[in-house]
Amino acid sequence: MVLFTLFIITIFLLLLCYYIKRIYFTLYGSIPGLPPQFLVGNLLETGVIGKNIPINLIFLDLKAKFGDIFQYWLGPTRIIVVSRLEDVQYIYSHRHIYDQGDIFIDKISLVNPYAGLCMKGASFKRHISITSPLFRRNKINTYLDTINDCTDKLLIRWQNSNDNSREIHLNMIEQCQQLLLSIFGYIAFDYDLQTLDDEYNSQKNELTHALHIHLGAAITTIQLPTIIARIYLLNPVYRRARATIDRYLQEMIEQELRETPDMRAERKRTSLIASLVDSLQQDEKLEQTKSEEDKKGLSRVEVIGEMLSLLSAGYSTTSTSVVWFIFFMSKSCNVQKKLKKEISQYDHQRLTIEQLDSLVYLDCIIRELFRFIPPIVGTVRTLINDDQLPSTGVHLNKGDQIFIPFYNLSRDQRYCPGLMDPNQFHPERFLNTTNDNKIDSITFGGGHRQCIGQDFARIELKAICVRLMQHVTFGDGGEKVNAGGYKQTDTILPKHIGVTITFD
Ligand code: HEM
Repeated sequence: MVLFTLFIITIFLLLLCYYIKRIYFTLYGSIPGLPPQFLVGNLLETGVIGKNIPINLIFLDLKAKFGDIFQYWLGPTRIIVVSRLEDVQYIYSHRHIYDQGDIFIDKISLVNPYAGLCMKGASFKRHISITSPLFRRNKINTYLDTINDCTDKLLIRWQNSNDNSREIHLNMIEQCQQLLLSIFGYIAFDYDLQTLDDEYNSQKNELTHALHIHLGAAITTIQLPTIIARIYLLNPVYRRARATIDRYLQEMIEQELRETPDMRAERKRTSLIASLVDSLQQDEKLEQTKSEEDKKGLSRVEVIGEMLSLLSAGYSTTSTSVVWFIFFMSKSCNVQKKLKKEISQYDHQRLTIEQLDSLVYLDCIIRELFRFIPPIVGTVRTLINDDQLPSTGVHLNKGDQIFIPFYNLSRDQRYCPGLMDPNQFHPERFLNTTNDNKIDSITFGGGHRQCIGQDFARIELKAICVRLMQHVTFGDGGEKVNAGGYKQTDTILPKHIGVTITFD
């Protein structure tokens, strides 16, 4: 009897192993790719694990090997990587077949389950109808002063600490992150996060510190298998940080609610939190009884979720672009000179949105920055029904996860304007081009889930770059310290950046 039971258990375990291997670790279907290994998929072989090779470089390599469509295994998860622009445009424009990626939702909802970012269907529509107007052009106008004030504060910090114009600054990533966090603190929370204060590094502001821990945890969970990420998030440091953020945000909401309706209407023009509080549901319990289609407004936890998701989505992406801007200016004297010449007509004056938009060469630089270095490597969609891609003709199944790799598209000569090498930073390629496919916009995704902050990001970046260029010149800190390369965090940062800062 014992032997028989052991026999049955052994057969069962063998079948289970066979099933797991077949479903999760076997290359299947007609789409090419590297055979996955047990538990780690393709992560070990391609150097994501062990060698920290950034995923943008891995996908560029795999595209050279397998062509416009291939499969890749993120551990036990199979994704289909699509690098043909016509197919990507088709995916974006067929929202009833391709919706927000489940693997993305699984990870983000661990740290922020109430944000629209990780919702689909009617709940997503309810959230987006409230958050997307917050970044319309008329709103952006009111944020310009804050952006300029914070950039000036950074310049003063540099001026005070810059005894020697030949000093090589190795901390540009932290400096730019502090600048963007400061801007976001004022715009979103109407709060001074103090990241640009001299004492910032020695005495950390409680909310800023908690936000850093939250952002760090969000990045870690994206990289970990879901089950391990869940355990990781139980750690007391994260729990405490989360409690601190919730306490501050609840207090900010209360403060907004104490304002008179007139005052709130006024504050709504310049403050994100005031706008979000304005959308608070009057009776949360009643709203909960309604169907998702009939619900109106946001509950308190949803307002907090939106604040956090806007912070995560908007701060590190833009600060990464500023870092790369500084890097390319330090590498290309010519580009920097041309830009300075273009903006010299305004002397040290602060520019309006219209003036910023009228600067043709600046526009080319920002577009080339977005084309050449998308801060985020790509986006994910999940199939709701079986489908066939129109250009490659590949058949896809319901539940497949599609990855759209921005670098594979934007570094492809077929889609890149002009004849210049797509692997070089060349703002001139955008001069006098119709660029119908708008390859620089690929950086912001597409279709119904495209970035809601893209207009804001473009203007914010332009305003910061102009302000910096009105006052300083960046120089190359030397071959070794300013070698560029790629470092993967939640965004793609330069691995080595070391620049000199000279006040003009
Ligand atoms: C250089 C700056 C930025 C880049 C490169 C960027 C890129 C992206 C990308 C690739 C997506 C996914 C799009 C898709 O799946 O099709 C996204 C979504 C999003 N972005 Fe941005 N973003 C930037 C700045 C911002 C800013 C400043 C904000 C607002 C403060 C913001 C808010 C959002 C939100 C809320 C979503 C989610 C939209 C949804 O759930 O459908 N982003 N962004």
